Amino acid sequence: MIHPVIMAGGTGSRLWPLSRQLNPKQFLKLTDDHLSMLQLTLDRLNGLDCSEPLLICNEEHRFLTAEQMRQSGYLEPDIILEPCGRNTAPAIALAALTLTAKAAADDDPLMLVLAADHLIQDVDAFQAGIKRAVPLAEQGKLVTFGIVPTHAETGYGYIQRGQGLSEGSFEVSRFVEKPDLDTAESYLTSGDYLWNSGMFMFSARRYLQELQTYRPDILAICQAALDDAREDLDFTRVNADIFAECPEDSIDYAVMEKTDNAAVVALDAGWSDIGSWSALWEVSEKDGDGNSFTGDVIAHDTATTLVRADNRLVATVGVENLVIIETKDALLVAHKDRVQDVKKVVERIRNDG
Ligand code: GDD
Ligand code: MG
Repeated sequence: MIHPVIMAGGTGSRLWPLSRQLNPKQFLKLTDDHLSMLQLTLDRLNGLDCSEPLLICNEEHRFLTAEQMRQSGYLEPDIILEPCGRNTAPAIALAALTLTAKAAADDDPLMLVLAADHLIQDVDAFQAGIKRAVPLAEQGKLVTFGIVPTHAETGYGYIQRGQGLSEGSFEVSRFVEKPDLDTAESYLTSGDYLWNSGMFMFSARRYLQELQTYRPDILAICQAALDDAREDLDFTRVNADIFAECPEDSIDYAVMEKTDNAAVVALDAGWSDIGSWSALWEVSEKDGDGNSFTGDVIAHDTATTLVRADNRLVATVGVENLVIIETKDALLVAHKDRVQDVKKVVERIRNDG
């Protein structure tokens, strides 16, 4: 049986002004009229041999998370609350420790670690990839799911394929998290690398062993913070003072770059992490001029533009390659090629106060 672990602690700042500190990307309905990214992530598990999912998120999103899980049919959700974000290596450690504490001494729970904010268009292909990963994870591999890269993205991890293991799966020769642009370009032209999708499958005890090898400091603090946790209805609240001392690190840097035990399952499932407004435009349905409009929009001579009008009529004349996001209290107008810099706006808002 697979134990899904869903990481929902990110901030999604490049999707401002829709994504906000109190209502970040994973809780928004971005690609579906009815379901949030988190709820789509939960739905995607239907049909797999899974236990109920374990969620890990920030304390300030506890009610949003619980409410959305209830709407998805999990009436008594299991949610671990982090008093502060320390990135994914500690978050996954908290989940692994929680699962092993509940398991019998001779049992080693199989974890499927998912991001709460990814889009996967082909659920059947996703589930086939998961099934392919199960025997590898049972053999003690740390399995990642690799995507054929389409451009030299520097915000992703890159996986160099090694020896073939079984159909569509390989040893990992090298894992490089977020390389610089020159390196990413050379990986792309080599044809030898896959993008790390940010989803993983491994046994809980194997992950804890690897963390003990490479980041025993993180493991020790997570264990202490959980030993002193408070159970409160749906929530497990880890000890805030102890967890605050935890170093910040992602699983990619802390474990995946260092381990000798990684494997990759190639995944062709219409995956996107919707990391920016242009990424959302790319996966959206478009009219004949390449526009994607949501809400009340009048467009004249407009091309390859994304408009989201939540409260007011938005009209465009003679423009192309724009992103226009209208919300109650803020309006974003950006060139589609510059949307990575939206996070700079968010930094300024935070700094100015
Ligand atoms: N609970 C919890 N706590 N969740 C977190 C935290 C945290 O402190 N930090 C991030 N997350 C969640 C995010 O909500 C997201 O669902 C997931 O963990 C990944 O975090 P990101 O911050 O979005 O990572 P990234 O996009 O920079 O990089 C990762 O994903 C890429 C693909 O989208 C890496 O795994 C890359 O290698 C990968 O290519
Ligand atoms: Mg991400």
